[in-house]
Amino acid sequence: MKRVHGKVALITGGASGIGLSTASLLAKEGAKVVIADFNTAGAKEAAAKINEEGGEASSIFLDASKEDSIKEAVDFTVKQYGTITVLFNNVGLTNLQKDLDVVNIDLDEWDRLMNVNLKSVLLGARFAIPHMIKAGGGSIINTASMSGFTGDVIRSAYGASKAAVVNLTKYTAAQYGKDNIRCNAIAPGLILTPAAKNNLTPEVLSIFEKYNALPYHGEADDIGYTALFLASDESKFITGQTIQVEGGHYIANPTVPDFKAFSEQA
Ligand SMILES: NC(=O)c1ccc[n+]([C@@H]2O[C@H](COP(=O)([O-])OP(=O)(O)OC[C@H]3O[C@@H](n4cnc5c(N)ncnc54)[C@H](O)[C@@H]3O)[C@@H](O)[C@H]2O)c1
Repeated sequence: MKRVHGKVALITGGASGIGLSTASLLAKEGAKVVIADFNTAGAKEAAAKINEEGGEASSIFLDASKEDSIKEAVDFTVKQYGTITVLFNNVGLTNLQKDLDVVNIDLDEWDRLMNVNLKSVLLGARFAIPHMIKAGGGSIINTASMSGFTGDVIRSAYGASKAAVVNLTKYTAAQYGKDNIRCNAIAPGLILTPAAKNNLTPEVLSIFEKYNALPYHGEADDIGYTALFLASDESKFITGQTIQVEGGHYIANPTVPDFKAFSEQA
């Protein structure tokens, strides 16, 4: 039996990166998937590829900053496949020019990121949960970030919104567990999705690599496989958790690389 056979999944931001990987892995493992994205052409292409490969997928335009659009994506999923039992709330973004330090951050950008990164997670759950209750249960997976656990020189709104996603995950899990609905989050470290590859210079990538415990960067499938596990019944006793998928970047005392270099010199 395939790992998510018979499940119906809505994936937001499914046309690229982490969402695209998850859509394709869920479909390969037997789920019917709806790819919802701002990038209509990309979402259509991703669904077509899954169908060509023998899976079952559809696509719909989504603007995750708009309540009506999120409701439409949930309704479309139910209309298309009869129910929704997996929701991957994955859309999230920042703007490095405007999402700055606390003194200088653009306040309109703060509001925009709280809306797209956090409120969309609440709304996805709000619209999907009644259908999941009818279906006898479901799994909600939210994409958080390691930026929700640490401080940084910029990206104050991104970090605060992702920290809130971590806690909203616990609230959702606490409130709907008795309905057999699980809610978990994944906190990626740096993952080499197209967005990350385009934005980061080799110098910046080498700073990340220096602090990873593992000798390589994360890829979209590293998150996709975690989402697949959380969508499947293999994780049926896990709820309210945030799984950190970050190559051991944040696990050690930050002085470790310096002390290692120091001891090698001595
Ligand atoms: N890549 C990383 O290093 C990394 C690290 C931590 C967390 N994350 C989180 O992972 C998630 C996915 O990121 P990714 O790296 O795969 O990004 P990506 O840019 O490759 O994919 C994001 C997708 O979301 C879509 N999208 C953006 N805004 C949207 C909106 N308002 N409505 C609907 N669709 C929208 C884009 O069109 C795109 O297809 C985000 O929540 C991000 O914050 C990524």
